[in-house]
Amino acid sequence: MGSNKYLTYLSDKAKDESFINRLKIKFRPLIFPVDTLLSHIDETDHFFDIGCGSGQFALLVQHFKKVQKISGVEIKQELVENANALFAKHAPKAEYHFSVYDGVHFPDSMKNYNKVFLNDVLHHVPKDQQIHFLQKIYDSISEGTVFVLKDIDAASILVYCNKLHDLVFSQEIGREITCESAQRILKDIGFSILDVSKQTIAVYPHYTIICKK
Ligand SMILES: C[S@@+](CC[C@H](N)C(=O)[O-])C[C@H]1O[C@@H](n2cnc3c(N)ncnc32)[C@H](O)[C@@H]1O
Repeated sequence: MGSNKYLTYLSDKAKDESFINRLKIKFRPLIFPVDTLLSHIDETDHFFDIGCGSGQFALLVQHFKKVQKISGVEIKQELVENANALFAKHAPKAEYHFSVYDGVHFPDSMKNYNKVFLNDVLHHVPKDQQIHFLQKIYDSISEGTVFVLKDIDAASILVYCNKLHDLVFSQEIGREITCESAQRILKDIGFSILDVSKQTIAVYPHYTIICKK
């Protein structure tokens, strides 16, 4: 399975983390459609990760796609510090910048990135704020930018596995929506949908929507 190379690459990069974080970091590539997501990134892209966590996905983008300009925002200071430390150690020559933000107001610099990803973040945003959140992303990126929304499909009964996962790892109950609702919202906001894929990996029903402003 293609994901094993990602697992191997990340497995020695979580040594200083807590036990739970090590589990999350090391095994995430096995339950996450990494190949699909990376297939939408090219070496010349400028990559922006909203809700970048501790920067592991961004590091995969840097290492496997050779992307040199990478940024991310997060609402948790500690995770931003992890991401900056991860890059300082493993990708010091890349042009990288990870910063904390308030979860609502995106930095102006986002306009300088042509690939903007939102991986498993939308279901952490309160339901009544999700449309506004996606609208703010649209408003904060440039014309022609490709936006990738990857999340868990609420139309699948397996969504309950993700809810259990979030309860264990984040002490939160996810607010997943269906892939169909997500597409409708994105279209209403003004995005053009370029591609939609669904993939169940282990017990996780993923959807990935590629769209363009
Ligand atoms: C399941 S983790 C995914 C992390 C990373 N995107 C990945 O795929 O590995 C969800 C992340 O979303 C972050 N988050 C929650 N609400 C957010 C918001 N409004 N804006 C940005 N990040 C947010 C959390 O702090 C957490 O790091």
